[in-house]
Amino acid sequence: MKKTILSGSTVTGDLTLGNYIGAINTWTQLQDEYDCLYFLADLHALTVHQDPEVLRKRTHSFFAQYLALGLDPKKNIIFAQSQVPQHTELSWILTCLTPMGYLNRMTQFKEKAEKHVKNINAGLFTYPVLMAADILLYQADLVPVGEDQKQHLELCRDLVGYFENRYGKGIFKMPEPMIGKTGARIMSLQDPTKKMSKSDENDKNRISIIDDAKAIEKKFKSAATDSGSEIKYDVENKAGVSNLLTIYSVLSGKTIEQLENEYVGKMYGHLKVDLAQVVIQKLGPVKDKYDDLMKNRDYLDQLLVEGAERAEARAEATIKKVYDTVGLVRRR
Ligand code: TYM
Repeated sequence: MKKTILSGSTVTGDLTLGNYIGAINTWTQLQDEYDCLYFLADLHALTVHQDPEVLRKRTHSFFAQYLALGLDPKKNIIFAQSQVPQHTELSWILTCLTPMGYLNRMTQFKEKAEKHVKNINAGLFTYPVLMAADILLYQADLVPVGEDQKQHLELCRDLVGYFENRYGKGIFKMPEPMIGKTGARIMSLQDPTKKMSKSDENDKNRISIIDDAKAIEKKFKSAATDSGSEIKYDVENKAGVSNLLTIYSVLSGKTIEQLENEYVGKMYGHLKVDLAQVVIQKLGPVKDKYDDLMKNRDYLDQLLVEGAERAEARAEATIKKVYDTVGLVRRR
């Protein structure tokens, strides 16, 4: 039996090189060997204010980006979270098992509450519980994510324990996080002490998957580098250059050491120009494919419906067991 993989991305802003390197690149490598489900977390997106039309369009856009980046809808089940109602159903049941104090400690909640002072809603608070439901519904063995999701996965694992203490074992599989050694935390281009984020107000901080060549060149050119001139991987003292080397290494397949050797005696500017070309070569064809896919929204819709049907069949098997276990009456 193949192991089950599940992961997703929240539909906010524009997918970045950070999302690609930390997560989606790994997803595409797993699709041949594992039973994979990848989804668009549009319900999670509602925790911050969204223009309804923009959100719907962005869901299509993210889906087209998943496909353009190489995820195959035949090999994987790809779907939108909101099209499978079992996510919210399980989320409620898990919410009733989650201590408030635990959610209060979540770093991402604290950061987002600081950023969205005018909209600290209950969804922002219970966000990680919905994430746990996403994972547990499909009995996922492995969850490939970037470093920033580690704490949420710990909560998910603890929820399996809380559920078992209360109702007994055998309903949920215990999921394991899968976090890459290189690139699990790609940093902002202008401030390499912060992670590259798709919802960052400053567009210069990130490379978006669908940026054109000119934008990519410009953004790398203006990326913050560090004092000194040596091209060396040293996160503490050279956060900017180290970040550029990480991106370069993942996209070119060269090790950091190889790159350090190649750039002995060269300037930061050389590294930036070359790196921009490596990224353009990677993302150029992705953007072309993306543009094509976005011309055919009906096709995207049809694939999403097919994905949701396949996902729902799996989710329903779990939710039935959960309803029986916790004492809810059967609905069908
Ligand atoms: P999201 O949309 O913020 O990010 C999607 C994936 O990209 C990774 N990532 C990064 N990796 C490296 N460097 C970065 N700068 C960087 N920024 C983001 C994230 O770790 C993530 O793997 N809550 C999740 C979506 C979600 C989910 C789930 C994920 C909802 N339910 C269940 C896994 C399982 C999120 O907002 O990811």
